[in-house]
Amino acid sequence: MPKGKKVLIVGTGTIGEPLIHLFTKERKEIGLGEIFFYKRSPLEEEADKVKDMTEAGALLIVENKEKEKKFLELGLYPVGTFPKIAKSVDVIVDCTPEGNKLKEKFYNSLPKVKGFIAQGSEKDFGKPYAWTINDSALTPENRFIQIVSCNTHQMLCVIKSITMAHGYLNLQYGIFTIFRRASDISEDKGILGVEFEKYSHPPYGSHQADDAARVLRTLYKDREFFPISAQALKAPTQLMHTFCFNLELKSGIDLAEARERLCKNPLVAFTKFKSSNKVFARARDSSRSILGRILNQTVFCEQTLGVSDNGLRISGGCFTPQDGNALLSSVAATLWLLDPKTYLEKMKVFDKFLFDKI
Ligand SMILES: NC(=O)c1ccc[n+]([C@@H]2O[C@H](COP(=O)([O-])OP(=O)(O)OC[C@H]3O[C@@H](n4cnc5c(N)ncnc54)[C@H](OP(=O)(O)O)[C@@H]3O)[C@@H](O)[C@H]2O)c1
Repeated sequence: MPKGKKVLIVGTGTIGEPLIHLFTKERKEIGLGEIFFYKRSPLEEEADKVKDMTEAGALLIVENKEKEKKFLELGLYPVGTFPKIAKSVDVIVDCTPEGNKLKEKFYNSLPKVKGFIAQGSEKDFGKPYAWTINDSALTPENRFIQIVSCNTHQMLCVIKSITMAHGYLNLQYGIFTIFRRASDISEDKGILGVEFEKYSHPPYGSHQADDAARVLRTLYKDREFFPISAQALKAPTQLMHTFCFNLELKSGIDLAEARERLCKNPLVAFTKFKSSNKVFARARDSSRSILGRILNQTVFCEQTLGVSDNGLRISGGCFTPQDGNALLSSVAATLWLLDPKTYLEKMKVFDKFLFDKI
């Protein structure tokens, strides 16, 4: 049995699957022991996917003995049940759209587990977090952490790179337009035309801007309001979200400085491609990506960067790697929960998956 801390990933969907592979692949490098994953439904059509995970070295657990029989019929071999294994692991990374429900039902009654992480849809699960953005806001009482959504990562990455270079927020106002992909590549659903989404989170507009403000509030505690707003639209594509920003700064910078600030952030990848399909295809084919995922927080479209003459208005466009750009936040939060003193060093292992250019 491998020594080291035990991690349990709950859910094997768009986010859970690559995370299971990422943890399993780098397990030894980052000092982890067993990587368990909990698959709820014994689906015939997903048996191969689960087999890939167990062959990679991850350990399957299921709901109960009754479900175990169904998994066995599919040629899959669970090593235990969720209620039992969940009690014995060090960190649980929830990758379901039901993290808050599972928190009420199970996680709250697991006192020995060091910490719990949930994903974008699970507002108020715990401290909102994005890797490299608000690490300094994590404190020992943060046993529950919510990894904010992919577009929130993207928004925060742009805000951080351009307006927080010197710590304070050099931002008069930020306006963002988010063209969301209608579904994931693994899904059958879709839409025919572009659809506007509601102004659902006043005064920020969309949930992504509201969530970005929640993250910024963990850093700038004395501020109630953050001057950002976003309009989201849904577009008939499955590949990537597309994102336009307009920032008005308090003190101006020139084009070279704006580019330099983006270049300095290793979580920003640059591209000369103009379309999301070109970016998506290149990344999928690259040996650098893991399961075709881009782990950078944003793919910045080089030729879109614009700066006004007085240096106060910066605009640009990016592609959001929606099924990859939040994964490192789950890894960083896990490693932080296990040992805040060593997690930054261990995170360097994942630099090899980051793109400079796509
Ligand atoms: N999709 C993205 O691009 C993306 C990007 C960033 C963040 N997120 C966030 O990540 C989370 C998961 O999204 P996803 O797109 O990965 O979902 P998904 O592809 O639909 O997968 C959901 C997974 O959760 C499992 N599940 C659902 N309810 C469960 C429960 N009560 N108990 C145990 N397992 C349960 C499902 O298991 P079975 O199929 O076995 O039943 C499935 O494996 C959401 O919070 C979402 O907001 C998604």
